[in-house]
Amino acid sequence: MRILLIGSGGREHALAWKLAQSESCTKLYCAPGNVGISAQAECVPISVDAIDDLVAFAKDNAIDLVVVGPETPLVDGLADKLNAENINVFGPSAKAAQLEGSKGFMKDLCAKYDIPTAKYGRFKDVELAIYFIEEADMPIVVKTDGLAAGKGVIICETKEQAIEAARDMLSGSSFGSAGHEVVIEEFLEGEEVSFFALSDGKTILPLTSAQDHKRVGEGDTGLNTGGMGAYSPAHFMTPALEQQIIEKTIEPTIAAMAAEGCAFTGVLFAGLMVKDGVVTLLEHNIRFGDPECQTLMMRMQGDLAQILLAAAQGRLDEMKDQISWSDDSAMCVVMAAKGYPGSYEKNTVISGIDQANEIDGAYVFHAGTTEGENSAVLSVGGRVLGVTATGSTIAEAQIRAYKSVDCLDWAEGFCRRDIGWRAL
Ligand code: AMP
Ligand code: GLY
Repeated sequence: MRILLIGSGGREHALAWKLAQSESCTKLYCAPGNVGISAQAECVPISVDAIDDLVAFAKDNAIDLVVVGPETPLVDGLADKLNAENINVFGPSAKAAQLEGSKGFMKDLCAKYDIPTAKYGRFKDVELAIYFIEEADMPIVVKTDGLAAGKGVIICETKEQAIEAARDMLSGSSFGSAGHEVVIEEFLEGEEVSFFALSDGKTILPLTSAQDHKRVGEGDTGLNTGGMGAYSPAHFMTPALEQQIIEKTIEPTIAAMAAEGCAFTGVLFAGLMVKDGVVTLLEHNIRFGDPECQTLMMRMQGDLAQILLAAAQGRLDEMKDQISWSDDSAMCVVMAAKGYPGSYEKNTVISGIDQANEIDGAYVFHAGTTEGENSAVLSVGGRVLGVTATGSTIAEAQIRAYKSVDCLDWAEGFCRRDIGWRAL
């Protein structure tokens, strides 16, 4: 199988690492990739938004399967264009990608099909939004309808804050067109967990759980980021809770999407809140999480290429016993450039990656890296490396991940030192 992987982050490096181990994968390309990914794949300089160029590359290079990492090209119709050319693609159509691309779409679907989620309103008109906020209990959550790279969610303690957030989003000043509409919803308490499941539109293949740390600071404080670390499985997951997540959120969503004429193919990533053993859906994403994916790939056993191809071709029912999960835990510690998620320096030199890879059970996935002179690894992004390790317990995975982090020499980088604290 000749595979084209789309993306350049730590999630895509983890996917490349696992795909390269698949017996059925004979050639792996990644567009655009990064320095780390080039150990497993041939990187081609096509950006993730150059949809027509990606389709042309897949056609010209006899690609058997395209695996799409990030959400944006899916929301923009990459899978539709590949399908139109009869190229197998792992990832949903633009219509199905609305599950992540429009929070209002996702909330209306939940309301229509009785999927438990926070009470909400959708607004384009600022006066109506203000009226809703005035009548609501605090705290409350104000969200952009469209994609905002994890930044379009504001938890507001007071009505004044909520009104300001809604005004700011709807005026278009901070979030552009993503904020042309807002979702305002009830604040939910509890512990968050992520759950992943594959679907080919009909069949569901549940994967496993993970938890991430979104805040930049230790103790889960400070600004929101794309994710500073993650571990899998979630420490409080039980078979009964997993069953509840599947029955209350995953199965009805897949059935609802099919009933709405936009069957979902790809990976469904449910962001959930759990309180007193009861699950509520916060959001759906239509892709693997980053850095959750790094921990999933380290625990997964099976031929990922075959499984993703089967999902793309509507044959997921054949794969039910082809995938299993190591009893080990995995943890990913993100190394970011100092200043992230604000402004940060680029093109700083990182060394020690080979030594970090020698720690038992550890592997360094690259995110924002590029190659400098004399094969030096340079940082070019905010989140730069995902130092990931397995262990027989979360505690062991944590020790190994930080041992690996300590092999790195990168004065301009930092990481949180408390990834996994809830589980320990
Ligand atoms: P989202 O992009 O919807 O996952 O939101 C980002 C983060 O905001 C989530 O991971 C939660 O920590 C938080 N969040 C979103 N919606 C709610 C809610 N209704 N209640 C409490 N926290 C929320
Ligand atoms: N780590 C959260 C996400 O990928 O959305």
